[in-house]
Amino acid sequence: MELVPLASAEEIASLVADIVELAVTRDPGTVLGLATGSTPLPTYQELIRRHRAGSGPSWDGVTTFNLDEYVGLPPGHEQSYLATIRRELTDDLGIEPARVHGPDAAEAGLPTAGERYEAAIEAAGGVDLQILGIGTNGHLAFNEQGSSLGSPTRIKTLTAQTRLDNARFFGSPDEVPRHVLTQGIGTILRARHLVLIATGAGKAEAVAAAVEGPVSASCPASMLQLHPHATVLVDEAAASRLERLSYYAEVYAAKPGWQAH
Ligand code: PGA
Repeated sequence: MELVPLASAEEIASLVADIVELAVTRDPGTVLGLATGSTPLPTYQELIRRHRAGSGPSWDGVTTFNLDEYVGLPPGHEQSYLATIRRELTDDLGIEPARVHGPDAAEAGLPTAGERYEAAIEAAGGVDLQILGIGTNGHLAFNEQGSSLGSPTRIKTLTAQTRLDNARFFGSPDEVPRHVLTQGIGTILRARHLVLIATGAGKAEAVAAAVEGPVSASCPASMLQLHPHATVLVDEAAASRLERLSYYAEVYAAKPGWQAH
């Protein structure tokens, strides 16, 4: 795992935008795994800014897969993650809606939605680059504490903490759906490169548990320790509980120029 300690969310956004653009430049058919929530927004805004400025790669051949989706929202609801990712990123990059995927949360198809999503990811050749956030409780996508480390895409029940954390997007915690479809930890582990972003003091404890704690279903994000190519980018506040922070900073400063992220 590479731990990249940076000063601010802006610096992280710029570096993650570089990583994403490099992947798309090298392979115009890149399959991106996309996270929603607040954390990746500065990165998405940076990608859009560069695209508008004409300095970014062509996005025409890129396919995207969201990590998760709420169950029980009316179709087209503005807080559905498919609507969110189109509004926050893919429409502005000019990626056709047909290439932008999320788990199908329509009620009638719920029993098979996970299997169908896994098949769609596989048919696209798997996710090349997966952007991730982390919950204040260490959840990854919507894999709450106790999620099987081998889990596939499936339905999950959100914890009270997550519904509280996400209430800012709705009127109140009660309006946050109770159920979600989420890529499993096993699904996420199959992506070729994981890029986890954590910013703000509220994530400090979860980051320390994920990076320096034991690999455990009690901290789903700790599964990054099992992945052959995981990059974790933290700002100062999110890094504040890391015991080996000075070592990570030393490693990053000494990173050989030829070594990409
Ligand atoms: P956030 O959510 O980026 O809105 O903090 C992250 C998460 O819950 O995984």
